[in-house]
Amino acid sequence: MTQLDSRALRNAFGTFMTGVTVVTSHDPGRNPIGFTANSFTSVSIDPPLVLVCLANSSRNYKALTSADGFAVNVLSESQIEVSNTFARPVEDRFASVEWRPGPVGSPVIEGVSAWFDCAMHKTVDAGDHVILIGEVKAFDSTTSAGLGYARGAYVTPATASGALSQNTDLIVSALIEREGHVLLVEGEQGLAPPEAAVGSRGVSATLNRLIGATGLSVEPGFVYSVFEDATHKRQHIAFLCQAAAGAPGKGVFQPLEPTSFGAVSNPAIRVMLERLAQESQLGDFGIYYGDQNKGEVRPIIRGGL
Ligand SMILES: Cc1cc2nc3c(=O)[nH]c(=O)nc-3n(C[C@H](O)[C@H](O)[C@H](O)COP(=O)(O)O)c2cc1C
Repeated sequence: MTQLDSRALRNAFGTFMTGVTVVTSHDPGRNPIGFTANSFTSVSIDPPLVLVCLANSSRNYKALTSADGFAVNVLSESQIEVSNTFARPVEDRFASVEWRPGPVGSPVIEGVSAWFDCAMHKTVDAGDHVILIGEVKAFDSTTSAGLGYARGAYVTPATASGALSQNTDLIVSALIEREGHVLLVEGEQGLAPPEAAVGSRGVSATLNRLIGATGLSVEPGFVYSVFEDATHKRQHIAFLCQAAAGAPGKGVFQPLEPTSFGAVSNPAIRVMLERLAQESQLGDFGIYYGDQNKGEVRPIIRGGL
């Protein structure tokens, strides 16, 4: 067990992959304020509550803890610079971004993956941070992939694919989930989730094509598994996605139960689907990194400091 010193603890917290947000509001003079935060998490659906943790040392501590509300801007994969700007002591952080007031009034930044404009519900002192709990009054989300953060570095689908070696095919697959079922189609490698080689198209474009081909309305989600399939000389990135109602153009939704995937011929894909079945029952997801035999599941927590 590691000694409970604060640096080791900070490093341990940092092993979890989180999203990256910019939390915005106004100071008493109605000037926009904001800071980068990865401690965002959803709290409650009814009423719709979210939280973010703010360091007591923040220059904006007073303004944020006495504000009427705040907005959480979930950054997209192309917004690393926005994250850096709002994490550094830049004089006017809003000078380099396009933004507009959200419906409740807090600044909403252009090009974000999602935003939640909130009324302040409660603040709770918690050690060297204060928890800002907001009630979501308006929100929107897009299909652009979110920016990730783990071990002190940004993670995007592009960096995830760049980490993979170059001399094998890179395959993207879409784990399209709906109400405890996952979409499987009959492909070249037998029954599997929809998948395609990336080629020169890029990871996001390949995922969007896969989604488009289902004929369903699907929200692309997070990277669920990154693994090397040496047997088939393939590198694999699987994205977990949510589908709305409707009949798929191709394939069938199979129940997400560990026993459902006997007909999936590729063992690496079968193991991934079995893990998905287990995790969706627990409501607790991780990201797998490794090869088709051995790897590591790193938990995803929706918070962190
Ligand atoms: C990826 C990332 C995540 C961060 N998450 C948080 C957070 O959740 N809470 C926090 O108080 N600071 C967080 N920070 C640090 C603040 O963004 C940073 O200290 C900023 O300068 C605070 O600005 P302020 O003092 O103007 O409020 C994070 C920084 C980065 C790069």
